[in-house]
Amino acid sequence: MKRPNPEPCRENDVGKFEIISRDGAARIGKFHTIHGVVNTPTLLPVINPNIRTIEPRKMWDEFGVECLITNSYIIRNSENLSKKAIDEGVHSLLNFPGAIMTDSGTFQSYVYGDIEVEPEEIIEFQKKIGVDIATMLDVFGKPNLDFEESKKIVEETVSRSEISINAADGMLLNGPIQGGLFPELRALSAEKMSGFDFSIHPIGGIVPLMEKRKYPELIRIISSCRHLIPSSRPVHLFGCGHPHLFAISVAMGVDFFDSAAYALFARDDRLIMPWGTEKLENISEWPTASKTFFEYSPKQVKSLPKDERTKILAEFNLEISMKEMARVREAVRNGKIWEYVERKSTEHPALEIATKLLLDCSEDFKFMNWVKESTKMQKNRGILWSKNIENHPYVKAAKEIVSKNLKYPMKDAFGKNVENDEWDIVLIYGVQGPWRMKCKDMINKLMSKFKKIQIFIQTPIGIIPYFLEDLNPFSHINGPKDIWNFNEEDLKLNYNSITKVHGESGANKAVELLIQSGIKLNDSELNEDEIETYFDKYSIISKTAVFTKLNFEIAEQWLFDASYLKGGTNRIRNVFDSSGEHVLSPRLEDGGISLTINGAKKLFDFYKNKKCNIPIIKIDEGAAPFVSKGRNVMHGFINSVTGTLRPGMPCLIVDHNDDLIAHGISCCTNSEAIEMKKGIAVKIKSGTK
Ligand code: GUN
Repeated sequence: MKRPNPEPCRENDVGKFEIISRDGAARIGKFHTIHGVVNTPTLLPVINPNIRTIEPRKMWDEFGVECLITNSYIIRNSENLSKKAIDEGVHSLLNFPGAIMTDSGTFQSYVYGDIEVEPEEIIEFQKKIGVDIATMLDVFGKPNLDFEESKKIVEETVSRSEISINAADGMLLNGPIQGGLFPELRALSAEKMSGFDFSIHPIGGIVPLMEKRKYPELIRIISSCRHLIPSSRPVHLFGCGHPHLFAISVAMGVDFFDSAAYALFARDDRLIMPWGTEKLENISEWPTASKTFFEYSPKQVKSLPKDERTKILAEFNLEISMKEMARVREAVRNGKIWEYVERKSTEHPALEIATKLLLDCSEDFKFMNWVKESTKMQKNRGILWSKNIENHPYVKAAKEIVSKNLKYPMKDAFGKNVENDEWDIVLIYGVQGPWRMKCKDMINKLMSKFKKIQIFIQTPIGIIPYFLEDLNPFSHINGPKDIWNFNEEDLKLNYNSITKVHGESGANKAVELLIQSGIKLNDSELNEDEIETYFDKYSIISKTAVFTKLNFEIAEQWLFDASYLKGGTNRIRNVFDSSGEHVLSPRLEDGGISLTINGAKKLFDFYKNKKCNIPIIKIDEGAAPFVSKGRNVMHGFINSVTGTLRPGMPCLIVDHNDDLIAHGISCCTNSEAIEMKKGIAVKIKSGTK
């Protein structure tokens, strides 16, 4: 079956990278080339032009390969290959219609010692044979070198960059990051190489680490330089083709991988499984389903002649590797990349140590802050509890955002002013939500009787005020009963006392517990409606403060007298401020809020009075008429950003006169807003026109 050849991208788009969807630093992207779009993260099979274990056309037609990598130095050194490549182009030489990346001979210099080619010459050759993405002749920084030697390699690679870029003359070019095992050199390399007009930055010099399963070292290398590379340029992990490294690397922001392993392992009668490699001789039944082996038993494969066996094993290895990459992409699309990373980590002890090192941040990884800042804090689904969930970046982000923006109410439910350290906390533990249903009687009874109390909920990832009881991720964690019993006290507020009450205690027992704690009864009791009104008020006020970074006291003043339209299940649908304007609506699916244009206008006034830190994007004059009518803000049209953008969070859009023209949900971080040149930056909710 022949798959149609790719469509060339628009001339203006060559080399542009756009982010389609993301889970923190992990991104589903499109890299545009003359030989079609390369959907990332992706695995580039390595083609040895002399051996071609699997025909490149077959890779395109049957394996869905969109981009492959071959070696320009090998082609150049073979008279036959070189002549055909120069006469007909590298796509014809390999019979591959998709995008072709070439390497430059650096790896050969690492394996065989000196090579005979100049940096400029190899670029000119790659240009001559019509590759889509070429590679400069970097110097391979072996991990066993000392600091000074590694530094020289970084400097030498940097010093070859300008001539390489000039020789490329518009051809897309890889600018590899070297620096051995030294984080400061990797950072230096990333900073210097980012200063040149490269299209992709491979992280190089890591093959010896992968061969020895030195995964913690690999993680240290990626985390020392990844966040310093412009977000508009994909990052390639040079020579990383083992499927069990795909998830963690993608989670760290890697977009391209390449693999010779599929063919090399096949030659050794080894199979690449998603979890590791297996020897063919040890296999009695196929432990995973595949198209390649559908009609073969292991016995039949073992009895094939060597050449035929190598070929079919290579096909199996490539099929499994491509499938694992698809699985990783799905995890990114579904916001489950860190869950998947954690699950994958059990496949190899070195991977487990590396994953733990990263998630625990047992070393000072500034990089993980960068991951956290690029992470949505909410998921629109249930979340499966895992051992390390507290360290997943979105959980850390959610806890940080909530604790930064929340304060105690100024009044208790009886309308009495309460100082911060006068509150008596009731901490409900031991049950999974929704607490508004499971603990309603108990909570109402406590609220009706006791003054100066605040109800908090213990979740497996931390404590939240009852006002935020439906806020994802806190409220949407699924797992065994035990996990709701953690007694970690990360309540960052002052308080007078704290009484822990099991969620299944029942109302009378809970009252008893509070009396035992010496908490004061009020002279009169509140009725259910009064309690509901109090919770409604502070749920809206708290969420507004959390999501829009509006000063908590100002949110309180603005929305204390708000009125509500409620739905059939008695949950708030629309919120009207005291002037009667519909300003926002709670989102039932994740416990967030959605602004209306009136709400956005009000927040913009608060922002101008320095009471609100909602991020503001100023856009190009030419784009303003479209955005003000509700069209999305596209990358390339952003002039500046004030405040901190976070994917999934609201932001306001102003024109060149600083007038509000729209509001929406950001898809990007600040650096992406400035650096990216293609794709959606902000999904607009509504414009002022
Ligand atoms: N292939 C594997 N590692 C490297 C590297 O560091 N540089 C280049 N150019 N190719 C590689």
